[in-house]
Amino acid sequence: MIDYKNLMRDPLKDSTVYVAGGFKLALKDPRAIRLNANENPFGPSPVAKEAMTKQLERGSYYPGDIMYDFKNHLAEFLNMETANLNLYNGSGSAINAMGDLFLNPGDEVLICSPTYMQYYDLPSHYAAKLVEVPAKDGLYTDLDAMYAAITPKTKLIFVCNPNNPTGTLLENGKLAEFVAKLPKNIICVVDEAYFDWVTAPDYKSAVSLVSDENSLVVFRTFSKIYGMAGIRMGYAVSNKALSSTISMSAGMFYSNRIAAAGAMASIDDLEFYKKVKDNNTEQRKYLSEEMNKMGIDVVPSQTSFIYFNPHADNEKIMAALEEKFIFIRRFDDPYLRVSVGKPEQNQIFLDALKEILADLKK
Ligand SMILES: Cc1ncc(COP(=O)(O)O)c(C=O)c1O
Repeated sequence: MIDYKNLMRDPLKDSTVYVAGGFKLALKDPRAIRLNANENPFGPSPVAKEAMTKQLERGSYYPGDIMYDFKNHLAEFLNMETANLNLYNGSGSAINAMGDLFLNPGDEVLICSPTYMQYYDLPSHYAAKLVEVPAKDGLYTDLDAMYAAITPKTKLIFVCNPNNPTGTLLENGKLAEFVAKLPKNIICVVDEAYFDWVTAPDYKSAVSLVSDENSLVVFRTFSKIYGMAGIRMGYAVSNKALSSTISMSAGMFYSNRIAAAGAMASIDDLEFYKKVKDNNTEQRKYLSEEMNKMGIDVVPSQTSFIYFNPHADNEKIMAALEEKFIFIRRFDDPYLRVSVGKPEQNQIFLDALKEILADLKK
């Protein structure tokens, strides 16, 4: 038997299979309450579904026409130009593209832990090195510590804001300061997968910071508030020169005509956007308050999920929840993360968690 690993590029030989979102077969069960991957329980929007269904008719044509329309529409929405944008098969593909484009063996990729899982794996695929600094109190992205960790080998920085899995947001103004002092030969990605859920009044997206003076790339996705995680559309915003370089890794077409049609229609469906955001804001508050009442330490969230310390045996909690077909996510102890679902899903989760915690105390 041939071991195909031996044919792989050397840095990849030690890699393992990435399991997105802690996927388990049991999640396919109709009884499953999926609060483990920050999916939108409402989406896609009805208007997007209609637009996508229509595009099926044109499924035999390459998607250049609709990608062109969508890019124009997106540029208008962002108040940018199409030359500032690159489209991807979800922002996960954009993360991979940064490795393909920029990482040589020995380069350093800087992150603040804990953060989004995909960044951790990326450097090893290119024999590059992951450099981690700890978050303040284990929860808040520490840009000062990140800046202090920059070396002549630093090539790529990932800042997730708001951050997954902690749900925390950078202090207003901090990111602008950080980006302004970074050398231009370091690519700084700000991953805004969760920016739509932010309710902090002083929050400003990093898109407004993109300029010729910096090497900032902002990632966004249609997987979250627009409910299109299974359809795949994400994008990167950067200055035109960087954007043109980035486009060199994109191949013919990242993403597809169905996703472009859905994304284009979603942007305009403000009613759906508001409905989904309002549910998240209300339910995030409700879940947080109810968990607090159970003696759980809840990290105040600006996202569509909640990071919490239940002060109990997390392995047992996960097993007991899964027995009830409720799926959440486990991180390094003492933390678990639950996505905000529909009210009835959240209530089932809360009731189950209360019962499990009481049982564990017996
Ligand atoms: C921070 C962050 N970035 C990127 C992604 C990837 O999203 P997608 O590839 O669905 O756009 C996720 C998915 O959960 C995420 O949490």
